[in-house]
Amino acid sequence: MNRPIPKLGSVRNPSEFSDSFIKDYSHIALPLTSRNIEEKSQDKAELLVDLSARLLTSLERTLGISIQEEIRKNGPSVTGKAGEVIDIPVIRGKEEVTRVLLVGVGSRSDSDIRKAGTSIGRKVRGNKSNVVSFLSRNAQEAQIHFIASGLATYSWSQKTGAAPETPSFTLVGDFKETVEKSHVLLSATWKARDLIQTPSNIKSPEWMASQVKKIAKSPQLSVKIKSGKDLKDFGGLRAVGNSSRKNPPRFVEISYRPRGAKRTPHVVLVGKGITFDTGGVSLKRPYDLMAPMKSDMSGAAVVLMVAVAAAELGLKVRITSLLMLAENALSGTAQRPSDVITHYGGTTVEVINTDCEGRLVLADGLAYADLHLEPDYLIDVATLTGAATLGLSRFYGALYTRDKKLADSLTKLSDFTGDRIWHMPLVDDYQVALSSHIADYNHTADKPKFQGGSVTAALFLEKFVGDRKWVHMDIAGPARSDIDAGENVKGGTGYGVRLLTEWIASLQ
Ligand code: BES
Ligand code: MN
Ligand code: ZN
Repeated sequence: MNRPIPKLGSVRNPSEFSDSFIKDYSHIALPLTSRNIEEKSQDKAELLVDLSARLLTSLERTLGISIQEEIRKNGPSVTGKAGEVIDIPVIRGKEEVTRVLLVGVGSRSDSDIRKAGTSIGRKVRGNKSNVVSFLSRNAQEAQIHFIASGLATYSWSQKTGAAPETPSFTLVGDFKETVEKSHVLLSATWKARDLIQTPSNIKSPEWMASQVKKIAKSPQLSVKIKSGKDLKDFGGLRAVGNSSRKNPPRFVEISYRPRGAKRTPHVVLVGKGITFDTGGVSLKRPYDLMAPMKSDMSGAAVVLMVAVAAAELGLKVRITSLLMLAENALSGTAQRPSDVITHYGGTTVEVINTDCEGRLVLADGLAYADLHLEPDYLIDVATLTGAATLGLSRFYGALYTRDKKLADSLTKLSDFTGDRIWHMPLVDDYQVALSSHIADYNHTADKPKFQGGSVTAALFLEKFVGDRKWVHMDIAGPARSDIDAGENVKGGTGYGVRLLTEWIASLQ
């Protein structure tokens, strides 16, 4: 079920392609670029491998191939754009095959390097290949390459029979530190994916809490779990989670306190952890929207793995991750539309539609953080609304905050981390949608004319954050992929782990 994470490594640039260098690898990846031959006033681009002449000659001699000939064989359809691959099998000895992969790196932008890394990962997904790659020129490119190649090989299944094998990726260059950092980010995203793939007949709130104990093992991490009577003040979490008698709710608080760092900023992360979302009494319709809802705990998986990654990297920032774990079931103990609940901190809310359960569990977590944790930054991560996906597609997360600088610093990390995000407006004209006749607030807009479901959800959450610097990430779109696309494979993506870990690292 749990496959090992691909091994990452680096080697120094060899002076030549000797047999002893080649024998360690099944795949040799080389950067393919195109150069316009303008000076000859031809409207033609020349494809070439971006490698020193000396290395190239020794490769051709040792393997007995001509790179230009191989490129020519592929005809004009290959242009050197990012992610294109010319796959050259070279038979060596009796049965040995070394594959030379010429991989388009486009303009070497962050996203082009990611595409190239992804293509290499896809080539070796599920097999025991050892790849050596000459694609990255610096640490930034190496990190993108490592993580993209690794993530593209991800798979998870409960199939019986032989499990898929795991490849390894070695980059040429002086990347020792990058190997370690990339490994931490790759494995954190990988484990978030494992939690998201796990089906909901296994993945109860209790199971999630037990996984936290297993995964959050670093000595700088501590874990507190609340259940039953200890959740008395968590009205939102109880209202949703007590719909399942079999799988009652949990509140998990993970604290990361870096050693020897006193005046560090404190980041509090709150994750939506709905282990399955039926919609409750307001049953989810159309019904085919329901099956993917095992992934409705993606936010919780992400905030867990960010704390774990930060601890492994030894970041000098305090982090508290709150996991709001509940199942939204349809049952005799489920809440009703029109119920009024009292959230942590005392705010009362009239429940309109029980399928808007995410904001109810998050509200408790945000209020708890504001009242007890003194966060410098308060960030929630949630697969909150289908509406966010309508506006931004499956490739972008929706970012809400009143703090422009904060929005900019997160948005700027989009291309480097691959977790792309877009700053959305908190439209105050829609506040009236949240007014209730009988409680402090309606929990969702009951006046359909407002539309903007992702915006009104954000406005609701904002009621619980006090005066804190707050960010809301609606990840309903990018948390899950229906197809193999980019470094994602069908299923949970672990979206947000890379972005938030890098952003926290930038606060040091
Ligand atoms: N978990 C869903 C949101 C969701 C939808 C996540 C699609 C991933 C993919 C959430 O609890 C929900 O049901 N939201 C409703 C809100 C509505 C009832 C106001 C929605 O998006 O339809
Ligand atoms: Mn729902
Ligand atoms: Zn939900």
